Order: sequence, then C-alpha cells, then structure tokens
Amino acid sequence: MSRRVGGKKRTRSLRLTRRGLLTAALGGAAVLAGGGAGGRGGIGRPFGIPAVLAASTASVKIGVLLPYSKVYQQLGEDITSGMTLYFESAGWKAGGRTLTVIKEDEDIDPQVALRKARKLIEGNNVDLLAGLVSSASALAIRDLVHNSKTLLVIANAGANAVTRARRSPYIFRISFSNWQTAFPIGGWFYENVARSCVVGGSDYAAGREDISAFKESYLASQGRILGEVYPPLNNTDYAPYIAQMQRLRPEAVFVFFAGSDAVRFVGQAAQYGLLKEARLVGPGFLVEEDVLPAQGKNALGTYSCLHWALTLQKPENLAFTRAYRDRWKREATVYAMQGYDAARVIVEALNTAGGDTVNKTGLIEAMASVKFASPRGAVAFDPDTHNVIQTVYLRQVRQVKDALHNVVFHDLGVFRDPG
Ligand code: BEZ
Repeated sequence: MSRRVGGKKRTRSLRLTRRGLLTAALGGAAVLAGGGAGGRGGIGRPFGIPAVLAASTASVKIGVLLPYSKVYQQLGEDITSGMTLYFESAGWKAGGRTLTVIKEDEDIDPQVALRKARKLIEGNNVDLLAGLVSSASALAIRDLVHNSKTLLVIANAGANAVTRARRSPYIFRISFSNWQTAFPIGGWFYENVARSCVVGGSDYAAGREDISAFKESYLASQGRILGEVYPPLNNTDYAPYIAQMQRLRPEAVFVFFAGSDAVRFVGQAAQYGLLKEARLVGPGFLVEEDVLPAQGKNALGTYSCLHWALTLQKPENLAFTRAYRDRWKREATVYAMQGYDAARVIVEALNTAGGDTVNKTGLIEAMASVKFASPRGAVAFDPDTHNVIQTVYLRQVRQVKDALHNVVFHDLGVFRDPG
C-alpha cells in the first residue's frame, strides 16, 4: 500500500486487494465445505491479514449442526438440502461476502452435539451456527452459544425453554416451539375426534413437551386423558407400548413420533391392530412427507397439525416445492422448508448488516427484523423471544393422484409461543 494514498482510500484499496486474493484462493467459486459427518471446510485467515479486516472480507463461515445418522438422519439431510437450495439461489453470497458451510453430525446424544458445537465455535471459529433437529441438543448447547455470543438459527429443534426461560439474544428459531406444534389442535380434537384419548411419544424433551401442550388445550376443552405412554427415542420394538395403549381401550391416540421412529410406530400400530381400534392423530411429523412413502396405506386418513404441507396452495410454496423437486429429484418436506427458510434468515440478516459479523448487536437487530412470505405463509420473529410467529394448519393424509400426501383442510390461525 502506498503512503501517498489517503487513509480512507488506502483501506478500500487494501480491502479490494485482499478480497481479490481471497477470491483467488477460493478459485472464485462459492464454497460448500464439509460434506457429511465430520466434514471440514472453510478457510482460515490467510496472508497474515489483521483479524478485523479478515472478518470483513473473508467468507462468512456457517457451522451447520444436524443429524446425519440414526433416527433423525433424513431430517438432517432434508434441512441441508433446503439450506443448499436457498444458498444456491443467493449465489452463495450475502452482505457482499461468500458463504461457506462447515457441517457436523448432531447425532442423538446431546453430549455429542455439545462437543460438535464447541468444535465449530472454538475450533473452526464459525461466524454463525445453524441447524439442530433435537430439542435435547438445543438445550445442551444453549449455554455455550449464549456465553460465546454465537448467533444460532434453529432450523428444527422445538425445546420450549430456548425461547422461554433460557432464551438468549443470540438464539433465533425459524422452525417452531414444541408448544406450537401441539397446543393448536387440542380443541379441534375434542370436538371432532374423541372426548377421551391416550397420549404418548418419544421419551425426551420434544415428546414430553408436545404432549404437555396438547393436554393444555384438550383438558381446557374438557377432554379426558386415559393414560400416557413414552417409549425411548430411537426405539425399534413398540409392541409393549402399543399393548399398554390397547389395554386402555381408547377411541383415539395422540402421539409425537418423528423420523424412523414414526415409520416403526405406525407400522407396528397397524400390525398389532391399534389402527383398527383407535384414530391416530399427532403433530405433523408423525406422517410428514419424509416418512409417508414407507408408512403407505397405514397412514391414510391420519389427521395432524403442522405449520406447512407439501400441498399448501400458496405461490411461494408452489415455487419452493417445484424448485426443490427440480434440484433434488424428490418431494420437499417440512424439514427441507425449514432449512430453506433458515438459510434465507441468514442471507437477509447479513445483507441488512452489510456482511458485518463482528458487530453482534447490529447482526442481532438485522436478524430480528427479518420477515417474509415463506412457503408456509407469513413469518416473523417474536421480538421478545426470537421464536417464529406463524400459521398452524390441520392436515389429513389423502390420496393425491398416484401418491399419499398431507392435504390442508383447515387453518387453525396464527400462533405465537406464550414465551
Ligand atoms: C425435536 O426434538 O425438537 C424434534 C425432533 C423431530 C421433529 C420435531 C421436533
């Protein structure tokens, strides 16, 4: 740099020069680093560039923590595909900077998730974290994220506390709180399905919180709970739990299961006769598009509530589902949609903040102001909790042309977590 150049100009000139070098180092291309469990990527701070300057010119490193194994593997893959689709549409750029993704496997063990989050934050120096499927992981990494002042965009995990008692200015959730996926249906269930029922779900934060939220509105409508059954997460044999439900002779069961647990529960509920004796209802994960092909006719007619459906007739959803089908040669799922929206939140916040990831207050303000017409309908962050405010729909599994899909038949209204 020449001393003859004025201070302001000199900085600009230096920046441009360094950016040119960095772009050359990246081969001038947008980068998707990592590539599955344990994947590594991103770039360091080359050529001895001062930290502040490097932070404003180097790529934005986004740590993506999602399950790429076990019960929620497909959910992690779908969120990743949704995110990739949106980042591609933005040319892997936001706020004038290239975006780089570093992926890690969340697993289903919250201690593994915590270790991976620490590796991304302290080892890879990521600028932002995104992802998380399991409520247990979200609860496990909350303090690390808060204390390290790392912005986190949750793309699934619904643990109520992370936007309630344990909320943090650094945590934004674009997916849902567990309360939002079960409370809305309780009154409708009482009026239209059964006056008494058995409830249950995977025995961890998400299963417990969904059932508690359902009971809140169902009991307020004078519904009666006959019993509660909680098999472990990542379970294979549901026979004893289904027998326990059958002994209570319910007209209906309301259950939380997702991923391969949902496939196995529904298959075994059919095998042991529960589906002939009782109506099956639950939060939409139970019969979502990721599990429906494996569940087949056993899922036909099942009612559920969720904040999205493949068949939702909105222009944004038609565009998203078409683009997703074209890109990945399969149907979108709620998880893919959440990944797509999580990526959009990151891109729009970075655009508003001019790519500045060092000024955390500015980036938080930029993120809090993000709102848009999502494939699911209008979304915005609750300014008090940073949890998404959104519409919840009633859906039923129906035959649509030559396949089974969830069809929306009622809009339950806009829900904001009580916080
Ligand atoms: C959760 O753990 O929060 C969760 C996992 C799968 C689907 C929905 C919620």
